[in-house]
Amino acid sequence: MTIPEILREKVLSALESLEIAVPDPARVQVTKAADLRFGDFQSNIAMMLAKGLGKNPREFAEDLSGRIAAEDLCEISIAGPGFLNFTLKAEAWAGLARAQWESDDLSVSQVKAPQTIVVDFSAPNVAKPMHVGHIRSTIIGECLSRVATKIGHKVIKDNHIGDWGTQFGMVTWAWKKDVDEKRLETEPLQELLRLYRTASDASKEDEGTKEECRAELVKLQQGDPNNKAIWERCLALSRKGLNQIYDRLDVSFDHWMGESAYNDALAPLVEQLVGDDLARESDGAICIFSNEAGKPKHDPFKINRDGEWQDFPMMIRKSDGAFNYATTDIATVEHRVKEWNADQIWYVVDFRQGGHFSQLFDTSKRLGHKEVNLVHVAFGTILGKDGKPLKTRAGDLPQLEDVLNDAVKAAQIVVDQKSHLETAEEKASLAELIGVNSVKFTELSHHRMSDYVFDLDKMVALEGDTAPYLLYSYVRSRSIFRKLNEKVKLKGGNLQLTEKSEIHLVRMLNRYSDQVHQVVEDYRPNLLATYLLELARAFHSFFEACPVLKSEGQTRESRLILCDLTSRVLKDGLNLLAIPVPERM
Ligand code: ARG
Repeated sequence: MTIPEILREKVLSALESLEIAVPDPARVQVTKAADLRFGDFQSNIAMMLAKGLGKNPREFAEDLSGRIAAEDLCEISIAGPGFLNFTLKAEAWAGLARAQWESDDLSVSQVKAPQTIVVDFSAPNVAKPMHVGHIRSTIIGECLSRVATKIGHKVIKDNHIGDWGTQFGMVTWAWKKDVDEKRLETEPLQELLRLYRTASDASKEDEGTKEECRAELVKLQQGDPNNKAIWERCLALSRKGLNQIYDRLDVSFDHWMGESAYNDALAPLVEQLVGDDLARESDGAICIFSNEAGKPKHDPFKINRDGEWQDFPMMIRKSDGAFNYATTDIATVEHRVKEWNADQIWYVVDFRQGGHFSQLFDTSKRLGHKEVNLVHVAFGTILGKDGKPLKTRAGDLPQLEDVLNDAVKAAQIVVDQKSHLETAEEKASLAELIGVNSVKFTELSHHRMSDYVFDLDKMVALEGDTAPYLLYSYVRSRSIFRKLNEKVKLKGGNLQLTEKSEIHLVRMLNRYSDQVHQVVEDYRPNLLATYLLELARAFHSFFEACPVLKSEGQTRESRLILCDLTSRVLKDGLNLLAIPVPERM
């Protein structure tokens, strides 16, 4: 049982001893204190019950607190109109810290009902390199996957790459003209991008070229062996290039079921939808319309134009017979539910696709997938220092790889100034770690729906709410063990807390489990990122106030345990953010 659960039991017993019947026991709650100055936990039960009992809430709170048998655990005080505040005693905190230190999983609790969760993230469009917009999906998706796995869910990470779009007509056209085989080997993504741009520029200038590109796509879709072979090489090369970036980011997938994987399922699916009256013909195309079941305001198949509600259908087959993004996504839900037994599917995708997902989710429900929980984990935009969406100097979307390289360059400057490492090699690998992970941490420390300004110098700085600050906190918590001359075998029984800063540190450590769970409940990695920053700050305050190596006996042993426990929570928490830690910096 957690402390709030134990306290709740004690409150219930106290009510019983006062012979007070509680109409709805579920409403008796002990929660984390909103303001730590007044205590660690609180309950508003006295205020809730007093009115019905015809009592003054404050007086009733006094009576009740006298009956709560928790002397060994906490002090109880009354605040405001009748809040019960519980302040845990130092020994109680020490007991919690000891249990956490002795537990392999740092007292992170497991969910009672594990689910199978498919996380759909990253999903760049192949043959166009991943741009910085994809960074949000890639990083948030990896983090959510790790956290959900940590608390006991079965997670399936699927990279639903865009590998079947019009871009292949263009790439194939340019490929046949002048592909640079050598560069394909060394810089696959860059060479594919060059081919794409060559064709795209040429098509803009010349209708004939545009037609030729389209013809290449049709040939591919009809199974022309030559075009198919080029497409397959494009895919293999793209995967190679993408994997180089994923390795750098510490991101991995269980599946790469791209759009093309569903090609054969699309025609029968559309037939079925039409047969089931879920879709119908409209101007030569096949579309899904509203089922008129709800208010138009909440209907994803309605749109308000000039004050009037009009149909806003989802097209699943174009008039030329081609299927599209939506058709593929419906087939993908089918596959994930039927083949993978998904209880939940999380789509980590830009907020601009919100309309598409509302229609997709509604369609899936109508198709009979009522049990599966479909969630659009949306995110906002990364901005440049001018407050507009981030662009390169040439006005293009910045390539993710370039962004990472720039971050490493910025980190190298900081490392050269501040690092204690000796060799240039060690410094370079630290700069790589700091650069890449600063970009990731900056992403994860913002609320996913907020737009944030991409400021390299700020994110690689040692001061502030940054990755380097956290990594440094970890290194500091470990370095003390290197300075110890003798080998120590710590014993949890020696944990004792006397100083305020020690208690505060333990209080923060104790929140770890809750914070991890909260990330999954709200699909919000920033809760964990912010928590780790707060933990690091609590650690620094403790470290400044309480000498460790200079103290003696049990005090020294106890403080060493606090350093050890802090370092483990920091490392584990950073790992959930997909951020590895250095041992020295
Ligand atoms: N390839 C798409 C894009 O870059 C994202 C795909 C997201 N996943 C999905 N199942 N629709 O915009």
